[in-house]
Amino acid sequence: DGEISYTITAQQGNTQLKEGAATQSYGYNGSILGPIIHLRTGQQVSIQTENELDTATSFHWHGLEVPSNVDGGPHSPIAPNQSVNLEFTVNQEAATLWFHPHPHGETAEQVYYGLAGLIYIEDDHSDSLAIPKEYGINDFPVIIQDRLFDENNQLNYSTAYSPDGTYGDTLVINGTINPYVDVKNEKIRLRLLNGSNARNYQFHLSDDTSFYQITSDGGFLNEPIPMESLQLVPGERAEIIVDLSSYTMGDTIQLMTGDVPVLTLNVTEESTEEDVPLPTTMNTITHTADEVSPDKKMTFSGMGNMVTIDGKQFDMDRIDLQAKVGEKEVWEIENTRHMMGGMIHPFHLHGLQFKVLNRNGAIPPENERGWKDTIALYPGESVQIEVDFPEKGLFMYHCHLLEHEDTGMMGQILVE
Ligand code: C2O
Ligand code: CU
Ligand code: CU
Repeated sequence: DGEISYTITAQQGNTQLKEGAATQSYGYNGSILGPIIHLRTGQQVSIQTENELDTATSFHWHGLEVPSNVDGGPHSPIAPNQSVNLEFTVNQEAATLWFHPHPHGETAEQVYYGLAGLIYIEDDHSDSLAIPKEYGINDFPVIIQDRLFDENNQLNYSTAYSPDGTYGDTLVINGTINPYVDVKNEKIRLRLLNGSNARNYQFHLSDDTSFYQITSDGGFLNEPIPMESLQLVPGERAEIIVDLSSYTMGDTIQLMTGDVPVLTLNVTEESTEEDVPLPTTMNTITHTADEVSPDKKMTFSGMGNMVTIDGKQFDMDRIDLQAKVGEKEVWEIENTRHMMGGMIHPFHLHGLQFKVLNRNGAIPPENERGWKDTIALYPGESVQIEVDFPEKGLFMYHCHLLEHEDTGMMGQILVE
């Protein structure tokens, strides 16, 4: 599988999203979002990261199992006009991951203006599975973000900002509005990323037929899970298969969230391939739901500017937790309910993929019994996860509602 190298440059640009003047935006190697970084398990990777913004940024590889000097958290800012070369080996299975900035206190704004991209890891196993894999033909990236445009159709983070999450009234999908693709009547694979600052989505199909979820954040599920609706919180990914094999020319089906179309699939061509059933076994992840006494406990609480983990806000000079490489631990994460009812905090941990053991003592839904790096914590809920760090270093855990993260709903764990 050898070696591969990429150059990823954060830059300012202008993007035509709505009528009128193009909006100011940020992108990687372009004016908005970024290229897909294609990696293979076992590969040696070198990424030249360059900052052409007029402010510091960092390059974080969300979901990638890398040492902390490569992880690109708030300890690794890159000043304007500076570049840093990163080298690592891909040590994990096929998955759809993503990358985004992580500078201390500035993550939400930089993501809002457009800094985000996808990472596809493939391996021999994913090559061998009978699933759609022709990019742009039957395998599509779908980055879902909501944005607010001002009266001049510009993105303006400071006027859109809200401490409990910056929300928009317009869906921007892969950096466009109202996207559609022309497809054949065959199985279509959509690689969904909730790249929004704060919004949770509940996806379904316009004709309410079921689809199959085939991956969680960190790789394939054991088997395709039939679903009629799928929730993704900020930072989460899922690949789904929409089976259009019984549709005919001229049919249209939409991926929706609530009443709002996310992506329109127009069936415009007859498939000439034989329709192959989805594989029945895609992975061999063992799962036990037993509640155990946790090695670590943490509590997410508060709203607005009062959000905390264990009563504290992030301090770059404080190490909150410690762990050892290769020593499995169970963490119990609680989201306290409060007078206002509370809210979902998307919990994310750097440096590894973890397993969700149980939610409030019950086995998690089937589509969460795979590798995860981001999960919804519902108000009043306690979730147990199993963590096993593969690399040493200092790693972040935080709320992936980006305004909460920037306010300080984040801690750090030193792994030795
Ligand atoms: Cu997706 Cu700490 O980030
Ligand atoms: Cu991350
Ligand atoms: Cu939060």
